[in-house]
Amino acid sequence: MEILLAMATLLALITLVVLIGTKGKPIVLITQFGTFISGVVENRVQIVVFGIIILLSATVIWLFFIYPHAGAGPVQPIAFSHRLHAGTKNIDCKFCHPYVDQSIHPGIPPVEKCLFCHNYIIPNHPEIKKEHYYFDNQIPIPWQKVFILSEHVLFNHERHLKRDIACETCHGEVQAKDRLTHSEFLMGFCVECHREENANTDCWLSCHN
Ligand code: HEC
Ligand code: HEC
Ligand code: HEC
Ligand code: HEC
Repeated sequence: MEILLAMATLLALITLVVLIGTKGKPIVLITQFGTFISGVVENRVQIVVFGIIILLSATVIWLFFIYPHAGAGPVQPIAFSHRLHAGTKNIDCKFCHPYVDQSIHPGIPPVEKCLFCHNYIIPNHPEIKKEHYYFDNQIPIPWQKVFILSEHVLFNHERHLKRDIACETCHGEVQAKDRLTHSEFLMGFCVECHREENANTDCWLSCHN
């Protein structure tokens, strides 16, 4: 979305420059290409200035629209941040994901768990009001799933956590991110570590059902 906006802005800027450069008659660019080029050669200074202006605007647009979101995951229904909760506030992963070492579907905390704190912490923040909306209407928050595993693959956290493999090994630095990034687990990822750790690599027995 931001990228589209930035591209549109850039396109508008280029159009403007072309319009100014051709004194409102962009068709000149095509019909009199030869004269245009010789004009360019004669007016090097203006070209350099124009080039710098375009480069600068592109940089500004990139910094403003794209850079802060570079590598950020999908927009979630509530602007929840792992960086704030698990990072800055140091809340244990298992406080919110308590069944991760017991269940095949560790799951996302229900809104009640958010309200456990947010009934008292910043209760009037607009994002927290959204929590009340979901709670009052008993609608599960439609979180976007970000870690994807093919449906026919059997994965269980339990065996892995018992071997003290850190969350980060598979999920990356969750506690450093505001929005978690999409990531698809491919078979190579599983098999590589299983080889190193001498875990079962017999696919049909262990990982596929
Ligand atoms: C060996 C790799 C590995 C480790 C270590 C690991 N995970 Fe996962 N995790 C996965 C995979 C693979 C999935 C996707 C499972 C699926 O979609 O069926 C997943 C999914 C999840 C989900 C989403 C589940 C859902 O119901 O949508 C949560 C939450 C999660 N992991 C939390 C954790 C936490 C917290 C830790 C550390 C205590 C951890 N994971 C450690 C591989 C791992
Ligand atoms: C253990 C307590 C605790 C739980 C549980 C908790 N939060 Fe928070 N949350 C906090 C604290 C502390 C802050 C920082 C408040 C501040 O800025 O003063 C915060 C801030 C926020 C903010 C505001 C961020 C900003 O931009 O200022 C949002 C949104 C939020 N939490 C959403 C959630 C959601 C969604 C859940 C449930 C999945 C949740 N929180 C669960 C403690 C918690
Ligand atoms: C305050 C509650 C809270 C804490 C603490 C927390 N999480 Fe989460 N977690 C959530 C919520 C809410 C989501 C769903 C929204 C999202 O994906 O950002 C989520 C999603 C995830 C997912 C993505 C599941 C998927 O596939 O969509 C993973 C993986 C995960 N958390 C791992 C962790 C790890 C690792 C930690 C500790 C470093 C941690 N979480 C700490 C609330 C929490
Ligand atoms: C960082 C290393 C690591 C990664 C990544 C990893 N595993 Fe494992 N896995 C292990 C280890 C170590 C064991 C053996 C645990 C034990 O001995 O109890 C294991 C065990 C298993 C088992 C049980 C095997 C059996 O003998 O029944 C399954 C199933 C499994 N992993 C599936 C997966 C899948 C699917 C993925 C990819 C999404 C994955 N693993 C990624 C290290 C890893």
